[in-house]
Amino acid sequence: MERTYVMIKPDGVQRNLVGEIISRFEKKGLKIVALKMLQISRELADRHYGEHKGKPFFEPLVQYITSGPVVAMVLEGKDAVTTVRDMMGPTNPLKAAPGTIRGTFGMDIGRNVVHGSDAPESAAREIALFFAPEEIIEYNKNVDTWLY
Ligand code: PPS
Repeated sequence: MERTYVMIKPDGVQRNLVGEIISRFEKKGLKIVALKMLQISRELADRHYGEHKGKPFFEPLVQYITSGPVVAMVLEGKDAVTTVRDMMGPTNPLKAAPGTIRGTFGMDIGRNVVHGSDAPESAAREIALFFAPEEIIEYNKNVDTWLY
C-alpha cells in the first residue's frame, strides 16, 4: 500500500469544503491514517515549498498557505499518490475537469483548494515534515477485500 500527503488549503477551510473533500477521498476507497488541523508557520511553509524558492509565485504561495488553518492528512491505498492527483485535477483550476476537486471548487491558480504529493518520494518527505511517526495510525478496517 502507498501513502500520500494531502492538505486542504486555507481557502478550502474558509469555504467549508473540509467535509466534502475528505468525503470524496473516503468514498473513493482511500484510508485516512493521519489527520489534523494546523496553522502553518512561515518556516514550515519555506521547508514544504523549498524547491520553489525564487519562482515568481513563491511569495504569494507562502502568504496564502500561512493565511489561515489547513487540514493535513495522510491517505493510504493502492497507487494513492496518482489516485489523489487525478481526483484533485491539474494545478490550475481553469484547466481542471469539472468533476475534479479543483475543477469543481477552484476559480484561480492562487487559490486551488487542495495539495497532494506529486510522487512517492515527495510524499515520504512531506509526511515526515507534517506528522510525527506516532501520529500515523496503523489499523485494519477489514474493507480491503471489498476494494481490491
Ligand atoms: S512547477 O514550477 O511546475 O514545479 O510548479 P507547480 O508544481 O505547478 O506548482 C508548485 C506549487 O505552487 C503553486 N502555484 C502557485 N501558487 C500561487 N500562484 C501561482 N501562480 C502558482 N503557480 C503554482 C501550486 O499550487 C503548487 O502548490 P501545491 O500545494 O503543490 O498545489
